[in-house]
Amino acid sequence: MGFDLVLFGGTGDLAWRKLMPALFQAFRHGTLPAGGRIIAVARDTLSDEQYRRLMYERFDKVELAKRPTPDEFARFAQLLHYLRMDLSQPQDYAQLAALLQARQADTVVMYVATAPSLFTTVCEQIAAAGLNGPATRVVLEKPLGHDLASNQAINATLRRVLREDQVFRIDHYLGKPSVQNLFAMRFGNALFEPLWRRETIANIEITIAEDLGVETRGAFYDQTGALRDMIQNHALQLLCAIGMEPPINASANAIRDEKLKVLQSLKPWDEATIGQNVIRGQYAAGMVRGQPVPGYREEKGVAPDSNTETFVALRTEIMNWRWAGVPFYLRTGKRLAERSAQIMVHFRPVPHHIFKTPVDAANRLVIHLQPQDGLDLRLLAQGATQAQSVETILTPVSLNLDFAQRFGTERVGAYERLLLDVIAGRLNLFVRSDEQEEAWRWVEPILEHWRRDPTGPRPYAAGSWGPSAASAMIARDGFCWSEEV
Ligand code: BG6
Repeated sequence: MGFDLVLFGGTGDLAWRKLMPALFQAFRHGTLPAGGRIIAVARDTLSDEQYRRLMYERFDKVELAKRPTPDEFARFAQLLHYLRMDLSQPQDYAQLAALLQARQADTVVMYVATAPSLFTTVCEQIAAAGLNGPATRVVLEKPLGHDLASNQAINATLRRVLREDQVFRIDHYLGKPSVQNLFAMRFGNALFEPLWRRETIANIEITIAEDLGVETRGAFYDQTGALRDMIQNHALQLLCAIGMEPPINASANAIRDEKLKVLQSLKPWDEATIGQNVIRGQYAAGMVRGQPVPGYREEKGVAPDSNTETFVALRTEIMNWRWAGVPFYLRTGKRLAERSAQIMVHFRPVPHHIFKTPVDAANRLVIHLQPQDGLDLRLLAQGATQAQSVETILTPVSLNLDFAQRFGTERVGAYERLLLDVIAGRLNLFVRSDEQEEAWRWVEPILEHWRRDPTGPRPYAAGSWGPSAASAMIARDGFCWSEEV
């Protein structure tokens, strides 16, 4: 009978900012399977009614298009229930078990949206209460550990109590419509595949830039940093989507096998390459969108002498026949000039020029992930009549596809998509343990190097594009970041 979705951390930030609005959108779109029940779990003493009211008030802070009308909320609220639990107390899980067993839903989703330190306790206690049967699916948010060893320890616990196909490790970037379209572009069209290789591609640039700072998460972020927060997961998943071989089919394991191979093929680090090819930065005070903003070390919860990086730019290679020698540049940072995520595929210039072209006039495919979501293919064309000139001069022009305009702005958001996938048991957009461990294995030498390196991160002004060393790194290969063109 329907599904039960247990939301551990039911009053927390993730629950009301992302998960509740996503569940409500699915409800509004009519895609949330009927007969569902959402049981929020937290430490506060609340009745179902009080919890519903709390969520309703919180919707005021959610973006306008995603807020329910009172009527819509009243219907959605019927699905919401509340259970007070102390997650360290085994007897509280017995109470949850009684609630779930009384209904025997077809699918039981346990969404662990708590502090990461509780992940293993919750999973062990779910199992101890007999709630790890075949109908159960457990969803875990990142960060899953803070290094390889802690990630392996969490995965080992999970393996003791659940099968791999019961574990849904979220990387919300995989749920973004733009990332789905990246898969569609690569594996649903014959056009790009023959070009998707070292012979035609000069380099690939992946940027996830944020203009926000650490907001209210200073204490958490100071223990984490950009490498763990963004590169180990989101940026590497994008790299996999761009670099992977075509999977044999669209099943979860076929896709994940190919992503894993990319991670295994990443060029291993040594002291010299880390020094040259990984740049870390930390934002100092500056101006963002015309407003003065404080430096990272002045943020609430951050140590005044913190060496945590808020920016990383790195150069890597995928060591296989398709990509040998092609640089992949990954870059992410907080308090950068703008919020923008994109992948830029730079093609090689023509082998022999018969026309005059501007400098840097090779073809370029830009996959815009956010804020806009679309594709932009730069070609060269002959523009204005050039009768007076003896030479033909080419000008860059754009073939531009805006997905929001084409498919409408009411597209399925990342969390909405991922939650529906969990309920349906589709694992395609979730990360398997071996992928995650491989990603940790690859970033770990960098973390080690930084621990021993007394120089710390390079400061950059908030509102800029990060430390100039990031430009120098890419310039060594004869390239530059897209905004520097
Ligand atoms: C999260 C990080 O995983 O992704 C945050 O922890 C970051 O620090 C966020 O701000 C970015 O996600 P999005 O979807 O806003 O690009």
